[in-house]
Amino acid sequence: MLTIALSKGRILEQTLPLLEKAGLKIEQGELNSRKLILDTNLAEVKVIIIRATDVPVFVQHGAADLGITGKDVLLEHGSNGLFELLDLKIAKCKLMVAAQNKQKLEQNTLKVATKYVNSAKLHFQKQGQSCEIIKLYGAMELAPIVGLAHCIVDLVDTGNTIKANGLQAFEHITDISSRLIVNAASFKTKNAAIKSWADNIAKNL
Ligand code: ATP
Ligand code: PRP
Repeated sequence: MLTIALSKGRILEQTLPLLEKAGLKIEQGELNSRKLILDTNLAEVKVIIIRATDVPVFVQHGAADLGITGKDVLLEHGSNGLFELLDLKIAKCKLMVAAQNKQKLEQNTLKVATKYVNSAKLHFQKQGQSCEIIKLYGAMELAPIVGLAHCIVDLVDTGNTIKANGLQAFEHITDISSRLIVNAASFKTKNAAIKSWADNIAKNL
């Protein structure tokens, strides 16, 4: 038996066609149901659909053998107990520093609003810039407008969200895309099945 943890939301939309090309199909009825463990066209493969941030938790602890989530999430979670197998090149965006203007970044101690606490700390540490991190869970773009922070560290794709809120991106931290991850123990005990899935997905990317 193989359990795959998928991220709901925008990653899921782009994941399902990749899985289908690799031979794994989930019926629309299953996807529309309130079930949390979904059957697939293969009796030996089950799928769980959870929040992107929970995917590495399930995989680390072996509750799922494989998982698909964003690199942004993995950078925050760390790689304890799991490996990254493939860059799926979906849900692509950039992790960036954005502010109302460049001067806002010139502070002795920069106030940074973000849900990406570890990535933000590391970025400013590398620059030798002292910072105070204000952890938020969403709507980061609001923080500079209401004076909660000097800048934000957030994902930027089209740039529409920062632009609509009077912000500009000034620093590129890293490129983000979704990754296929595997539980370290499962990679040993179910190696043949996992490698075959990873190969099937890879050859259709
Ligand atoms: P949660 O539901 O846990 O609060 P979320 O609201 O961030 O998470 P999504 O917006 O679906 O959930 O984002 C999930 C993942 O999709 C992110 O972790 C990131 O890897 C990717 N992502 C987020 N925003 C974008 C975007 N604008 N363009 C492309 N990929 C994105
Ligand atoms: C993500 C991200 C940015 C936005 C960037 O938000 O947190 O706010 O997308 O995309 P853009 O550059 O194309 O505008 P999302 O839509 O997932 O909303 P959420 O953070 O509130 O979940």
